[in-house]
Amino acid sequence: MRSFLGRDILSLRDFERADFQRIFEVCDELAPIAKTRRNADLLSGKTLLTAFYQPSTRTRLATEAAMHRLGGHVLGFSDAKMTRAGDFYQESIKDTVHMLEYYGDVIAMRHFEQGAPAEAARWASIPVINCGDGWGEHPTQVLTDLYTTQKELGRLDGLTYLLVGDMRMRTMHSILYALSQFDAKAYVVGPPEMSLTPEFTRELEERNVRYEEAFSVEDVIEACDVIYMEPVVQADYTASREERGGGGVATTPATYRVTRQLLREKAKPGAIILHSLPRMDELPADVDQTRHARYWQEAFNGVVMRMALLALVLGAVE
Ligand code: CP
Repeated sequence: MRSFLGRDILSLRDFERADFQRIFEVCDELAPIAKTRRNADLLSGKTLLTAFYQPSTRTRLATEAAMHRLGGHVLGFSDAKMTRAGDFYQESIKDTVHMLEYYGDVIAMRHFEQGAPAEAARWASIPVINCGDGWGEHPTQVLTDLYTTQKELGRLDGLTYLLVGDMRMRTMHSILYALSQFDAKAYVVGPPEMSLTPEFTRELEERNVRYEEAFSVEDVIEACDVIYMEPVVQADYTASREERGGGGVATTPATYRVTRQLLREKAKPGAIILHSLPRMDELPADVDQTRHARYWQEAFNGVVMRMALLALVLGAVE
C-alpha cells in the first residue's frame, strides 16, 4: 500500500483494497471525536484551503467540519466569482494554486471541469483532495458511501449493488472504480441518454468490474443489498425558482424511483439506501422513515471520512 502522507486524493481508479481498509480503520479511530463533539488537536497548526468553484453543501462543509474537529484552521472560497479565478481575469488553476500552496497545508477542490483537481495537484507542493470535478469523479463521497456500507452491513465483499440514476455522474464513476476491488456485482439502471459512456465501459471491462445494465429498479431491486441513488432530473439551476415557475423540473419516471411501496413489496428486508444528495423526486421523503434509509447516517460518516483523509495526507496518523 502506498503511504498516504502527502498523497493527492484525486480518483478511486487506482485505489487498492488495502487503501480502503486503512482509511476505514482510521475512520473508526477518529469517529469518537465526532460522536462526542469533543474536538481534538490532532491537526492543530495545520490549515485546510477550500477552493470550491461549484456549489456544495455537504462536501465543503463536511471537509471544513472535519478540519475543525481535529483542531486545524480553515480558509478558502465557496464562490470563485469573488476571486481572480472567477472574475474577468479567469486566473488559471496553475497560478491560483501557486498562491494557495503558501496559505495552507492541504487543498480541497471542487471544480466544474473534469481534471481540474489533477491539474492543481501537478502544480501544488501540498496534497490536493478532489471534492468533485465535473463529470469526472467524487472520491470522498464514494469513500463515505463505502464506509457507511461497511459499518451498516459489516462487509463490502459478497454484496450486490443497485446503481440508479445518471450514469455519467461523477459518483457513478468513482463507485464503479471502487467496486473493482471487491467481490461485488452492480446492476446499473438509468435513462439510455444518461448511460455509461463507451470509454468508461471499456475501462470497467479492463478492470473486471461485474455489472449488468437493467431497464428498471423494479426488475432487479429484490437481488440488491445496497441501493445507490442519484437524480435523473435536474432543475435549471441557472434560473431562479421564480423564473422557472412552478413546473420547472420534470418528474422522475417510475423506472428510476425508489418508493415505500416498492421497498415493501420487492426489496430485501436488510437492503440499505444510500444517496449522495441533494435529491429530487426519485427518493420520496417518506422513505426516510423506513429501515432502509442510511443517507442521514452518511452525513455523520462524511465528516468522519474527511477527518481520516486529512489526518492521513497530513501525516497525523501513519
Ligand atoms: N454529495 C454532495 O456532493 O453534495 P454537495 O454537492 O452538497 O457537496
